[in-house]
Amino acid sequence: MGSVSPRLSVPKHIKAPEYVGRPAPTPFTGTDVKTPEQIEKIRAAGKIAAGAIEMLRSEIAPGISTDHLDRLAHDYVIDHGAYPSTLGYRGYPKSICSSVNEIICHGIPDDTVLEAGDIVNIDITAYLDGFHGDLNHTIEVGDVSEDVHNLVERTREALNRGLMAVAPGRAVNTIGLAIENYAKRFGYGVVRDFTGHGVGEAFHSGLIIPHYDSAPNYATVMEVGMVFTIEPMLTLGTHKWDMWPDGWTVSTKDKSITAQFEHTLAVTETGYDILTLP
Ligand code: MF3
Ligand code: CO
Ligand code: CO
Repeated sequence: MGSVSPRLSVPKHIKAPEYVGRPAPTPFTGTDVKTPEQIEKIRAAGKIAAGAIEMLRSEIAPGISTDHLDRLAHDYVIDHGAYPSTLGYRGYPKSICSSVNEIICHGIPDDTVLEAGDIVNIDITAYLDGFHGDLNHTIEVGDVSEDVHNLVERTREALNRGLMAVAPGRAVNTIGLAIENYAKRFGYGVVRDFTGHGVGEAFHSGLIIPHYDSAPNYATVMEVGMVFTIEPMLTLGTHKWDMWPDGWTVSTKDKSITAQFEHTLAVTETGYDILTLP
């Protein structure tokens, strides 16, 4: 566990979500089905978050700290007129999540320096004009082992399998079935307790999208215009996890390496529309 730098500031002209400065968000009571105008706002936020990840991709190298990546992303999101949604979310102290190697999700940027052979997941959410767009990518640092490279590429494909299961009229648990069936081929652990979620005016709307076969649970039927994330986490070992004493960082229980990819999407007549592209 490294040392976390002081909280970065956000200029006054950037509008913060309502939960900033409060212990928790106000529960969302609206719908996960968005209008075309709302979907374009989520896409505009998602484009900034995706652009920030593309910028970090070219900075990630052995010797760079996750704190440095956080500062770069913080400045990028603000320079594009958006608020970095994680900063002040339930007290989370940073503008990105950076989850290295055995960290499943919600790693806090600190003075930890990346080394060749590491993998790092960068999760960024931007809030613009009242709407959030949320995505993450796992990025290889220098050359990584074949097992780890395969895990990263198959986790990317697992997200793709989840996306391909999206269609109006289907239960959301179909998404998890597709992901788990694909991951099972390789004997990977499929994390169950951290899920995709509805996103829009709220960072997490309350709608849950499991990445495993949860039927008959989580049977919400997908509708055209529904917006949510899919964000599978696969491991080279167990799906079980431990929470670090910081209350955020989630590690695999067996310290096995883990990867994740995430997009925000809208359900369309024929499938899906990814809203978090650069
Ligand atoms: N972006 C993460 C997600 O995909 C949530 C991060 S919340 C934080 O849902 F507080 F940990 F940053
Ligand atoms: Co998410
Ligand atoms: Co995310």
